[in-house]
Amino acid sequence: MKKVTALLIGAALSLPLLLQAATNKGIEGSVHDFSNVTNNTWNTRSGVCSPCHAAHHTDPNQIVPLWVHATSTAAFQMYDSPTMDATTSSSPSGSSLACLSCHDGSLAINASISSPNPATAVYIDPAAQIGPDLHTTHPISFTYDAALADADGGLENPISYRIGDPKAFLTVNVAPVPATWSGTSLTGKTINDALLIDGKMECSSCHDVHKIVGSAPSSGILVKISGNDSTGRGSLICRTCHIK
Ligand code: HEC
Ligand code: HEC
Ligand code: HEC
Ligand code: HEC
Repeated sequence: MKKVTALLIGAALSLPLLLQAATNKGIEGSVHDFSNVTNNTWNTRSGVCSPCHAAHHTDPNQIVPLWVHATSTAAFQMYDSPTMDATTSSSPSGSSLACLSCHDGSLAINASISSPNPATAVYIDPAAQIGPDLHTTHPISFTYDAALADADGGLENPISYRIGDPKAFLTVNVAPVPATWSGTSLTGKTINDALLIDGKMECSSCHDVHKIVGSAPSSGILVKISGNDSTGRGSLICRTCHIK
C-alpha cells in the first residue's frame, strides 16, 4: 500500500498503476470490501454493506445515511493556521467522523452500534491510521462557499467553477481533469455538487469510499480526481479547488 501511495501524487502515473487500473467494480474487491470471511472471520454473514450500513436499527445521529458502525468519541485535534480563512470546527463532523470511526484507530473495524467492543476486535493498519491528531491533515469539516473563495482569493468559487473549466489567472490554464475517467465522470459538475458534502469539505471531498466516483476506481487510494492534465502535470485534486 505504501508503494501505491508514494506513486500517486508524483508527476506521472507509473506503468504498474495503469495496468492495474480501470474496471469500475465499486466497493467489490476494494480495501473496504470485508465480505471475504477467510480474511474477515468476524463478518460471518459476508456482508458487503453491513460493516457500515444496515436497513434498520441504525445510528440515531445518522452521521451518514443508515450508519451502523460504532462512532468514534476520540479527542480530536483539528487543523488551524495563521493563514486559514475558513471558520474551523472543534471536531470532525458528518461523513468524516464516520471515516475516522475506523481510521483514527480508536474503534475496531468490526465495531458496530450494537457491539461497540467486539470480542475479536480488528483494528486499522497503522499505515492507514489518520488522526485523532488531525492538525497535520488537510482541514476538514468546515463550510466552503463563495464567501470563503472571495475572502481567500486563491480558491475557486465552489458554486460556479465546474470541473473541467480552464483555470483562470494561471499561465498553464488547462482544465485539471484526467484525460479519461475510470468511474463516473465529474466533468461539468460544480465543486459543490461533486466534492462537497452539504457544502462542507470532508474526507469524502477527496476520497470515494465506494470506489466509483471520478478516477477513484483507478487512483490506488480512492482519490476522486487523479492522473495528469494534458500538459503532464499532476496534483489534479488539489488544483481543482486551489488556484495555485
Ligand atoms: C467502509 C464503510 C462503508 C461501506 C462498506 C459501504 N459504505 Fe456506503 N457510505 C459510507 C460512508 C462513510 C458514506 C457517507 C460518505 C459518502 O457519501 O461517501 C456512505 C454513503 C452511502 C450512501 C449515500 C450517499 C451516496 O453515495 O449515495 C449510500 C446510498 C450508500 N453509502 C450505500 C452503500 C451500499 C449499498 C454499500 C454496500 C454495497 C455500501 N454503501 C458500503 C461508508 C460505507
Ligand atoms: C469499517 C471501517 C472503515 C471505515 C468506516 C472507513 N474505512 Fe477506509 N479503510 C479501512 C480499512 C480496513 C482499510 C485498509 C487498511 C489496511 O491497509 O489495513 C482502509 C483503507 C482506506 C484508504 C487507503 C486505500 C488504499 O488502497 O490503500 C483510504 C484512502 C480510505 N480507507 C479512506 C476512507 C474514507 C474517506 C472513509 C470515509 C468516507 C473510510 N475510509 C471509511 C476501513 C474503513
Ligand atoms: C484534500 C484532499 C484529501 C482530504 C480532505 C483527505 N485526504 Fe486522504 N489522502 C489524500 C491524498 C492525495 C492521499 C495520498 C497520499 C498523500 O498524498 O498523503 C491520501 C491518502 C490517504 C490514505 C492512505 C494512507 C496514507 O496515510 O497515505 C488514507 C487512509 C486516507 N487518505 C484517509 C483519509 C481520511 C480518513 C480523511 C479524513 C479525515 C482524508 N483522507 C482526507 C487526499 C485527501
Ligand atoms: C474540494 C476543494 C479542495 C481540495 C480538493 C483541496 N483543497 Fe486545500 N483547501 C480547500 C479549502 C476550502 C481550504 C481552506 C482555505 C482557507 O480557509 O484559508 C483549504 C486549505 C488548504 C491548505 C491550508 C491553507 C492555510 O492557509 O492554512 C493547504 C496547504 C491546502 N489546502 C492544500 C491542498 C492540497 C495540497 C490539496 C491536494 C492534496 C488540496 N488542498 C485539496 C479546498 C480544497
